[in-house]
Amino acid sequence: MNGRTILDVKDLSTHYFTSKGVVKALDDASFELKGGQSLGIAGESGCGKSTLAFSLLRMVQPPGRIVKGSIMLDGVDVAKFTEKEARKKLRWQKISMVFQGAMDIMTPVYTVGHQMMEPLYYHKGIKGKKGREICYRYLDMVDLDTDLFHRYPHELSGGQKQRVIIATALLMEPDVVIMDEPTTALDVVVEARIMNDLKRLKHELDNSMIFITHDLSILAEVSDNLAIMYAGWIVELGDASEIYKDPKHPYTQKLIAAIPRLHMDMDRLEYIPGAPPELTDPPSGCRFHPRCEHAFDRCMKEVPKEYDVDGVLVKCHLYAED
Ligand SMILES: Nc1ncnc2c1ncn2[C@@H]1O[C@H](COP(=O)(O)OP(=O)(O)OP(=O)(O)O)[C@@H](O)[C@H]1O
Ligand SMILES: [Mg+2]
Repeated sequence: MNGRTILDVKDLSTHYFTSKGVVKALDDASFELKGGQSLGIAGESGCGKSTLAFSLLRMVQPPGRIVKGSIMLDGVDVAKFTEKEARKKLRWQKISMVFQGAMDIMTPVYTVGHQMMEPLYYHKGIKGKKGREICYRYLDMVDLDTDLFHRYPHELSGGQKQRVIIATALLMEPDVVIMDEPTTALDVVVEARIMNDLKRLKHELDNSMIFITHDLSILAEVSDNLAIMYAGWIVELGDASEIYKDPKHPYTQKLIAAIPRLHMDMDRLEYIPGAPPELTDPPSGCRFHPRCEHAFDRCMKEVPKEYDVDGVLVKCHLYAED
């Protein structure tokens, strides 16, 4: 499966139709994911990361809906799926997801095992001893004692719960696993351990992964490619190490400069002045222009195209040839 394009997303746009106006949470997102590859998605709170994830799973809830674009998964456009098709052919079997804050929504009345077995039975008809063995294997894979299978969620620490959720997302062996802020609620030590596990799993398992976080520093280790989002747009997309080494979009440059580093002079920690825009009425032209120190006339008037700069796609007028 390695190297084959699994997911090909084009011009995907998802809006929320609220009483206060249309929230343009995701506009014209395009990217590809190959087998065995991982994509990190980073950007400030509210930039549309979870909306993108929900769109891929076809789980955008009203008042939101996909308004444009395609999501080709193995040659089939799942953006056109009915709810029934999405339930039967897409979610969990093809794409699974660790939801943001998922460990808080584990059902307290069922054992860990029950909650892991349920999707296995529902989607694959696997139950009993065979199901239990699969669950044990995946608990072990995320470094958990198989005893946990028989326990209730309240008997687990936050880190253990999050590992259970990750194991559950993996056990259906989907083509793509999306992890939306898998470690944000945890302390840094547990976070580092889980990220290390995920890095190992990425090598062991053959599926593709999408990691979502507002914390760019933790993506470095686990992502082959990066998509940097700002106000509903993917503003920079390409090889992760290339983007870290030489960020091209002014927003990415600020985002990377804002990562605190050890032994760094804290007076020099950069931040991005201003706040992300309201997505009901995003700025004209480039959505980043009010906060961009390089902005010029054109940025206020014209939506930038994506330019290929050393193999990285950058949505910024600074790179226009004309
Ligand atoms: N159900 C909804 N109704 C209306 N607006 C919504 C809804 N869900 C999200 N939004 C808006 O869509 C935009 C993108 O939200 P989203 O949750 O995708 O951001 P995010 O990047 O995941 O943020 P965070 O890092 O805080 O999780 C935000 O402006 C948000 O307020
Ligand atoms: Mg989110």
